Amino acid sequence: MPSNKFFNRSIISIRDFTIDDFAYLFDLTDKIQSLTSNERGEIAKGLILGYIFYEYSTRTRLSFESAMASIGGRSLGISNIDSSSIMKGESYADTIKTISLYSDVVLIRHPSDGSSRYASEISDKPVINGGSGSEEHPTQAMLDIYTIFKEKKRINGLSIGIVGDLKYGRTVYSLIYGLSTYDVDIHLVSPSVLKIRSESIDDIPNNIKMFHHTELTDDLLKKLDVIYVTRIQRERFPDLQEYKKIQGLYTIDENILKRSKPDVAILHPLPRVDEISPSIDNTTNAVYFKQASYGKELRSALLSALLHENPF
Ligand code: NCD
Repeated sequence: MPSNKFFNRSIISIRDFTIDDFAYLFDLTDKIQSLTSNERGEIAKGLILGYIFYEYSTRTRLSFESAMASIGGRSLGISNIDSSSIMKGESYADTIKTISLYSDVVLIRHPSDGSSRYASEISDKPVINGGSGSEEHPTQAMLDIYTIFKEKKRINGLSIGIVGDLKYGRTVYSLIYGLSTYDVDIHLVSPSVLKIRSESIDDIPNNIKMFHHTELTDDLLKKLDVIYVTRIQRERFPDLQEYKKIQGLYTIDENILKRSKPDVAILHPLPRVDEISPSIDNTTNAVYFKQASYGKELRSALLSALLHENPF
């Protein structure tokens, strides 16, 4: 049985964790769902999650808040920096330091790469990276891999397609780093302007097989067990005209499902814009909302493991 390597530790990059750590976390995520609400409510009693979001968020912030509440803790934070002293000119460092004074763990989303790593050097408390620029979003990838495991009952041996904005999508990088500890085939599908940043993946151990595509061909669709769809990161796009050219390029709809394996699992970190047609939401292939709901459970387990050496 792997031991708890999350205790009192900042979660900055998924690369700081091993396949055993994922196994520990996934097991804890299963176990926390079988606790009674009274048992759950004791785990983080009296403890506080502090957060600051310099970028928009729906799921990350709400699932963390909901997770913290479900284990008996509280959350406080800043989701709109316009209402904070940042507007008076307070520095990032002083802001993070202050949040860490009032909380037991600090969750941060920021548009710059390296922002969470830097915060962890300033904060008195462990920092969780809730999305740093186009670099990483480690807890999203943990829940993505957990979702794949729940759906497919295994990770090893799967063919996983990652489709869309591979250049700016931070969840993509964390997912690839996380999956690279398993034995999987990864098929990267994007227009050439949104190709994966090769410098960000060139030190991944080469036992993982990665294939590059620009189209969702029939041959490819027949291979894929999972299709992980991403939104084009409009806000990181230098030229909106360029954005418009590629918008809606790989919309997943009934036609794509017909050409795919019957049990293909469609995942998306959400929010979606037009990459997945709502007309497939009620199919058994559509896993994205289940994935979002696992976000609460996995983050409850993660917070428990971070706050206690023996969580429950
Ligand atoms: C993602 C993000 O912020 O990187 N959202 C999320 O946390 N589920 C994906 C996105 O914004 O496209």
